[in-house]
Amino acid sequence: AAPCDIYKNGGTPCVAAHGTTRALYDAYTGPLYQLKRGSDGSTTDITPLSAGGVANAAAQDSFCKGTTCLISIIYDQSGRANHLYQAPKGAFSGPDVNGNDNLAGAIGAPVTLGGKKAYGVFVSPGTGYRNDEVSGTATGNQPEGMYAVLDGTHYNDACCFDYGNAETSNTDTGNGHMEAVYYGNNTVWGSGSGSGPWLMADLENGLFSGQGTKQNPADPSISSRFFTGMVKGEPNQWALRGGNAASGSLSTYYSGARPTVGGYNPMSLEGAIILGIGGDNSNGAQGTFYEGVMTSGYPSDATEASVQANIVAAGYATTSLNTKPLTVGNKISIKVTTPGYDTRYLAHSGATVNTQVVSSSSATSLKQQASWTVRTGLGNSGCYSFESVDTPGSFIRHYNFALQLNANDNTKAFKEDATFCSQTGLVTGNTFNSWSYPAKFLRHYNNVGYIANNGGVHDFDSATGFNNDVSFVVGTSFA
Ligand code: AHR
Ligand code: AHR
Ligand code: AHR
Repeated sequence: AAPCDIYKNGGTPCVAAHGTTRALYDAYTGPLYQLKRGSDGSTTDITPLSAGGVANAAAQDSFCKGTTCLISIIYDQSGRANHLYQAPKGAFSGPDVNGNDNLAGAIGAPVTLGGKKAYGVFVSPGTGYRNDEVSGTATGNQPEGMYAVLDGTHYNDACCFDYGNAETSNTDTGNGHMEAVYYGNNTVWGSGSGSGPWLMADLENGLFSGQGTKQNPADPSISSRFFTGMVKGEPNQWALRGGNAASGSLSTYYSGARPTVGGYNPMSLEGAIILGIGGDNSNGAQGTFYEGVMTSGYPSDATEASVQANIVAAGYATTSLNTKPLTVGNKISIKVTTPGYDTRYLAHSGATVNTQVVSSSSATSLKQQASWTVRTGLGNSGCYSFESVDTPGSFIRHYNFALQLNANDNTKAFKEDATFCSQTGLVTGNTFNSWSYPAKFLRHYNNVGYIANNGGVHDFDSATGFNNDVSFVVGTSFA
C-alpha cells in the first residue's frame, strides 16, 4: 500500500499529500504538480505514469524543451485541495514581485524511483510554497503526524527549511503556533549531536531536537542522501523520528512531553501548510523535498514503520544532474552565441566575469583570461566548477547573482556558489544552471556574467534574448 493508504488503515488519514515524484495513494491518477514555462508563460499538469505510480518526467522534459520551467503548484493528492502555491510575503519579504517567494526551478532535483526518472522540489534560498486556506489540518492542540522525504545532503543553517503546519497570517504569532519538519544545521535554537544537519521540529520561536530548547545529543547528524523525517504531536506528547529513505527502518530521536517553556503545552496550531520557509516567511534556507504528507490524528509507530517500508520500496536513487555533461580536466573556451555578440567568450578582468572578443591573434594574457579548466563541482560532485587558467585556485562563482572570479576559500557557501550543471543548450551548445539556484542560468547581459532567471526581477533576468544569452558553445581553450 502507498503512504496515505497506510495512514488511512491506521486510523490517521492524510489531510494533505504532496509529492512531485509519485502518487501517495495506490489509486491516485490526478495531477502531482503544475509547471509554468518561460517561453510563453503557459502551464501544464504532470500526472503519474499509472495509478499510484511515478511521475511522468518525460512529459516535463517535453513541455520544457528549449525553455525554462518552474514548479508553480504542488497539488494535494488527499482530495482536500490543500495545494501548495508560491508563498506570499509575510513578516519577511521574498525576492519575487510583491515580496512573494520564488518558485523552484523544475530541473534542480532529478532522481529515479525504481529506475524511473522523476523530479523533486529543489528549494534555493528565497524559494517557498504555502497554503493559508487549508481544510482538515490540525488546529489548536489537535493531534497530527507528518513526514517528508528530503535530500539529506542539501541544507544550510538559515531559517528555515520546513514542511508542515504553520500560521495562516504568514507572521510569527507565538510559541506553539507551528508544528513542522525542519531540516538543516541551524543552531540559533536547538541542535543535535555532531555538526548537523539535523531533523528538528519547528514549533515556532524554536527548532526543537528534544524536550528542551537547546541541544539534544540523541538527535543525530544525518548523512544519508535520501532522508525520511517525521514529526508528530498530540496533547503533551510529541516525537521526532527519522531514517534513511532508501534503506532500513526509522529511529526515534525524541518521544515525550511537550517543551516546558510557555506556549507549547497546549499547542495553538493554525493549520496553514508551508514548504521551504519558516512560519513568518523567513526564506534564507535551502533543501530538497521529494514527497510528504500531513495526517489527522497521531500515527502509531507501527503505521509509520509501514510508511517507511513503502518509501524504501519506492526505490529512490540518484541520477545525472546534467543532460549534456562536460569532461572533467578539459581546458575549454565558452563562446557566446547571441547574434551580434558571437565573437565573444566568457572571460574575466580581475574579479569581474564578463565576455570579451577573443581570437587566435589575441594577446596571450587575454587568451588565458578566456580559458577555463573543468573541475568536479566543488559544491556537488555531480556538476562542475570552472577554474581560471591564468589564476589557478580561483573559480567562477556567483555573488548577489553576478559572476565573479574568486579564490576558493573552502567555505560551503563558496563551493556551492561555484558549482554549475551542464544542460543541452536552450538554442544551441550548452546551457549552465547554477547548482544552488537551478532556476537561474549562466548568462551574459551587457557583456557581463550573471546567473539569471528567465524573466525575473533584475534587469539581467530580462526575458528578451534570454535563450540566446544562456546558450554557449564549449570549445577547446585558447591557452
Ligand atoms: O521557530 C523558528 C522560526 O522562528 C519560525 O519558523 C519563524 O516563524 C520564526 O522566525
Ligand atoms: O549569488 C547569490 C548569493 O549571493 C550567493 O549564494 C551568496 O554567496 C551571496 O550572498
Ligand atoms: O550581453 C550582451 C547583450 O546585453 C545581451 O545579449 C542582451 O540580452 C543584453 O542587452
